[in-house]
Amino acid sequence: MIDSRPTVVDLFAGAGLFSYSFKQVGFRVTQAIEIDAIAAATYANNLGDHVVAADVSRVKPNGHCDVIIAGPPCQGFSTLGARRADDPRNSLCLEVVRWARTMQPKVVVIENVAAFLESDEWQGVRRGLRRLGYEVEAIILDAFDYGVPQRRRRSFTFASRVGMVTAPRQRRSLRSVREAWEGLPSEADGRNDHYAPTPSRIALERMQIIPPGGDKRDVMRRAPHLAAPSWWNVSSEVTDAWGRMEWDQPCNTLRTALQNASKGRYIHPEQHRVISLREAARLHTIPDSWVFTGLPTQIARQIGNSVPPSLGRTVARAVKRLL
Ligand SMILES: C[S@@+](CC[C@H](N)C(=O)[O-])C[C@H]1O[C@@H](n2cnc3c(N)ncnc32)[C@H](O)[C@@H]1O
Repeated sequence: MIDSRPTVVDLFAGAGLFSYSFKQVGFRVTQAIEIDAIAAATYANNLGDHVVAADVSRVKPNGHCDVIIAGPPCQGFSTLGARRADDPRNSLCLEVVRWARTMQPKVVVIENVAAFLESDEWQGVRRGLRRLGYEVEAIILDAFDYGVPQRRRRSFTFASRVGMVTAPRQRRSLRSVREAWEGLPSEADGRNDHYAPTPSRIALERMQIIPPGGDKRDVMRRAPHLAAPSWWNVSSEVTDAWGRMEWDQPCNTLRTALQNASKGRYIHPEQHRVISLREAARLHTIPDSWVFTGLPTQIARQIGNSVPPSLGRTVARAVKRLL
């Protein structure tokens, strides 16, 4: 029987959550490329062996597809930490233009942090795709507006030869940490990646002081002897570090170090531990049936890097309407 589903190639595929989103709304992913062998193993376990563990820039594109989706590395564009115009990873996004030249997709979708749109590289990608005859537009979507109980603003750049994607209608279905974790055992029992590291003694003492919605500033105020010396040197006004989640709010953006309390608002709403990997997956709308490969830090990276499927499906449906 002929498979009439539109075809997708996924570049910088990670653990495969953007691919999964497209698959769920009726696309067929024929090829995926991911440099990290462990993330590629998660991809293969869940979606099939069309994934290749390789450097996108060293693979020769071959054949045609209807859609290219890509999530190039975003460290160089992120507004967190040093934003490095000379980060060699930034130029990887131009690989998408090279692939589009050969594969001739009808639509290209590039997902990245919002700040990507302010970079020279984004201008370069836009120029390159326009030269190939594409109309190019970008939008910023917050995952929370599309069924994800997480505040997560991401840019989506669309290049199309078949008309422009219209901004999807908002649909806030899951709104809070409480809703996301419904039915999950409250203790992180280690089963099905419901695993959280045991905090060190000082981490535990700090967590005991931080209320829901609070962060390291509560420690500095109420138990200064537990504050790290470095906390006093930098402005503590605009940080989520040692933040504790709140039951009835969405969580803040989950990043790659989502089990490191010093890197964000990752402490459980009432227990004195960071969130488990499965809790993080739930906050990302990744199904419980998704099997991860790797050490906890590698799994955390796969989750923090990924497109939450509920948002991914919204984007995939918008693309499908054009085909
Ligand atoms: C933001 S993540 C993409 C996540 C993916 N879209 C998802 O939804 O799961 C970027 C990925 O690019 C991979 N990567 C970085 N450099 C690469 C390269 N040169 N070739 C292939 N993959 C690369 C990283 O290992 C990382 O998994």
